[in-house]
Amino acid sequence: MQKRVISGIQPSGELTLGNYLGALRRWVSMQDHYENYFCIVDLHAITEPQDPQELRRRVRDIAAFYLAAGLDTRRSVIFIQSHIRAHSELGWILNCMTPMGWLERMTQFKDKAAKGGRERISVGVFDYPVLMAADILIYQAHLVPVGDDQRQHVELTRDIAIRFNNRFGETFTIPEAFIGDTGARIMSLADPTQKMSKSTEDPNGTITLLDPPDLVRRKIMRAKTDSGSEACFDPTRPGITNLLEIYSTLTGLSRSQTEDHFAGHGYGDVKRELADLVIAALEPLQREHHRYIDDLAALDHELQSGSDRATAIAERTLRDVQEKVGVR
Ligand code: TYM
Repeated sequence: MQKRVISGIQPSGELTLGNYLGALRRWVSMQDHYENYFCIVDLHAITEPQDPQELRRRVRDIAAFYLAAGLDTRRSVIFIQSHIRAHSELGWILNCMTPMGWLERMTQFKDKAAKGGRERISVGVFDYPVLMAADILIYQAHLVPVGDDQRQHVELTRDIAIRFNNRFGETFTIPEAFIGDTGARIMSLADPTQKMSKSTEDPNGTITLLDPPDLVRRKIMRAKTDSGSEACFDPTRPGITNLLEIYSTLTGLSRSQTEDHFAGHGYGDVKRELADLVIAALEPLQREHHRYIDDLAALDHELQSGSDRATAIAERTLRDVQEKVGVR
């Protein structure tokens, strides 16, 4: 039996090069070896205020990127989280089994609480990892391919599953985070001590998948680099390290091969070559994305059939859980 894989992306902003390298591109490369479920997690996006029209647009935009990047609906089930009601229903049951203390330890929550103020951020922001656990556990997934920032949420999912199984008997598969050796943590080009993010305050730090070539080049040429000139991976020089990391993820070269490649070259050469490489990687993605966006009826049809396939599996787990808990 093939192992099952689940992952998802929030439609909370334009997709970034970080989402692509840390998640989407890896999903495509894994696709043949697993039974795959990939969703667009719109219920996660509304933990923060969203414009409804814009949210609907982004959901399809991300679906189009999934297909454009090479996810194939014959090999992967692609669907929208909110279409499968069982995610929310399982989420509620898991809420009732998850101690607040576990959620208070989540670094993403702590960061958001520090920035937004505990009194003002939504309960959804606090509770979001439990819904993520439901997304994963409802498919009995073995592997969760994500970037490094989601590692803690997958650990929490494991803890919730183990606790449930101990109390009610074997119910959930215990999943594992599946994090790449490279590309798992792409940093902002403007501030390489911060993660490249959809919701970043400084747009110069983020390359989005729809950025035109001249903008990509400008952002990379202006990327903040450190004092020094030698192109090598060095934790005390996060700027150049991040550029080399993007380079090595896109080319598939190891870190030492990447350093050898740039031996004797300065930061300017790294930036020029990296800009060419990123532009070349985005070009086919953007072309295919336009093709899918041009035929929204076909895209919606794919998403509907993905929902039907996902519902069948999700309902089975939910029913089992409801019976065990005594609410069915
Ligand atoms: P999200 O939408 O923030 O990010 C989607 C995926 O992209 C990865 N990622 C990155 N990887 C490398 N470098 C970066 N700078 C970078 N930024 C983002 C993320 O690690 C993630 O894999 N909670 C999740 C979505 C989610 C989910 C799930 C994932 C909800 N339910 C179930 C897996 C399984 C999130 O907010 O990802």
